[in-house]
Amino acid sequence: QDALKRAVAAAAIDEIKPLLHADCVIGVGTGSTANHFIDLLAAHRHDFKGAVASSEATAKRLRDHGIEVFELNHVGSLPVYVDGADEINPRLEMIKGGGAALTREKIIAACAERFVCIADASKRVAVLGGFPLPIEVIPMARSYVARELVARGLTPVYRDGVITDNGNQVLDCYDYLIEAPAELESELNDIAGVVTNGLFARRGADVLLLAGEEGVTRFTR
Ligand code: A5P
Repeated sequence: QDALKRAVAAAAIDEIKPLLHADCVIGVGTGSTANHFIDLLAAHRHDFKGAVASSEATAKRLRDHGIEVFELNHVGSLPVYVDGADEINPRLEMIKGGGAALTREKIIAACAERFVCIADASKRVAVLGGFPLPIEVIPMARSYVARELVARGLTPVYRDGVITDNGNQVLDCYDYLIEAPAELESELNDIAGVVTNGLFARRGADVLLLAGEEGVTRFTR
């Protein structure tokens, strides 16, 4: 699995290399696959200006490699965002947030001109929902949001002990196959107290690089 993550990270470097230039800032995601990407990106740090990070952990890893980290508010445009996923379907809609970085990931994905998803083949599914759907909530709203989720047929479980980079909490919704991801994404975001949910359907990936035993395959939508 780790070798597949490394292979797909290398493919992502090839994918974004033509976009890099001296003034270019790129978006960088969170997780073990993104970490491989950061490690390989280090060799190219003189070819671009810097990065916007989707988590404190990613910001630290980038800085440790000598890559400058910019605040999103100080960046004009992001040509590309590279990140992993917990699940991705054939329409390149995703569940993300297994690492609790979903809100910053969604903000950067929204800003970026192109979202390149990097994943090993285990992440590709026909229907999203095998992986528990994370929902970031304002702490005082946690019980209310949980009740609203139960009323909609979901089964939320509090991710005990986890505080997001934004100071919030996470509910994971188990065993709910998601037939209409974009609609559910909007519906869940309408519940008061929800900061965001881990469905990336309204803004899915533009490119999927998927690593399997036979190599890396490139998908577009
Ligand atoms: C972080 O919150 C997630 O959205 C990650 O992008 C996702 O969990 C993928 O992580 P791995 O690359 O570690 O599987």
